[in-house]
Amino acid sequence: INVLLICGGGSSEHDVSLRTADFIQQELGKSAEFQLTRVTMDADGRFIDADGQLRELRSDKLLYNAGGSAQPVDYVIPAIHGYPGETGDLQSQLEILGLPYYGCGPEASKNCFNKVTTKLWLTALGIDNTPYKFLCAETAEEFAKAQDALSQWGSVFVKASNQGSSVGCYQVSTPEALNEALKDAFKLSPYVLVEKCLNVRELEVAAYEYHGELVVTPPGEVRAPSDTFYSYDEKYAEDSRAETFVEAEGLSEGQLDWIREASRRAFVGLQLKDLSRIDFFLTDEGEIYLNEVNTFPGMTSISMFPKMLKNQGHDFSEYLGTLIHNAVK
Ligand code: ADP
Ligand code: DAL
Ligand code: MG
Repeated sequence: INVLLICGGGSSEHDVSLRTADFIQQELGKSAEFQLTRVTMDADGRFIDADGQLRELRSDKLLYNAGGSAQPVDYVIPAIHGYPGETGDLQSQLEILGLPYYGCGPEASKNCFNKVTTKLWLTALGIDNTPYKFLCAETAEEFAKAQDALSQWGSVFVKASNQGSSVGCYQVSTPEALNEALKDAFKLSPYVLVEKCLNVRELEVAAYEYHGELVVTPPGEVRAPSDTFYSYDEKYAEDSRAETFVEAEGLSEGQLDWIREASRRAFVGLQLKDLSRIDFFLTDEGEIYLNEVNTFPGMTSISMFPKMLKNQGHDFSEYLGTLIHNAVK
């Protein structure tokens, strides 16, 4: 089976995607059945192979090289965080080509990647999420709305709507810092969220399809150091001080049930497919909010999705291999 692994892409998460692709490549490499070709998408959307050569996927489902020779593609793994993978754009192209691929479709991807749309969907599905205001333009009126939110909540998170890995996320507690953060966030995205800053435990669930059944793992936990939040550096830097726990401790049966049910409702309601990591906040007061749905979660050495699968007794290469078989048969 000829598998095309696409990584990189044009977003701030390009480098994280390369690390995710390393993991997938290593796992698929365990079976001689899969002939894997890896290409890295550059900022112009071109595919570059391991030898630095340009490749092109055309409508005949063949991957061409510059010399004009081509190889078949049976299945695609769009291992791109952010644009144009997690945003659903690449998946739209694969749909048009009629090529099966790993992960969520274009609509689910788009709905979950945009932090504003996610909140609208979660509310429609009856799933609690963090209190927020939504700014749709860089105007004085909209900035005033954010300043009101800051006076009301004391400390807020400003978030660009279309980023991941904590890029475009700012924690602010003063009007001046808020203005700066809003300006920075608007440089990255056309919509900006201002959320109430909460004292939270961060819980993460892997929700994925395994042999046709939806599996929702018990929540794991990520713990950022007390002087910061779970920022880009705390996620990926060599000297990150963040801690991860594959199973969160001390949650009540009621809390575990709530998280499982909300994850299931999100997966089904948002029409997710194959994989997702669904992240929750548990506040000091015991409230639980669904923070976000990641349709292509990171699979770096510190990432929770592969760890939680393993903890569930599920072998990643077998899981992905089965999905590929079912898609190409
Ligand atoms: P991303 O999609 O970039 O991961 P998140 O919404 O998950 O964005 O925010 C990144 C991190 O910022 C979270 O993991 C958490 O540490 C912190 N954070 C985000 N929103 C809040 C909030 N409302 N209150 C407290 N911490 C938050
Ligand atoms: N956006 C990163 C890759 C994650 O949430 O895992
Ligand atoms: Mg997050």
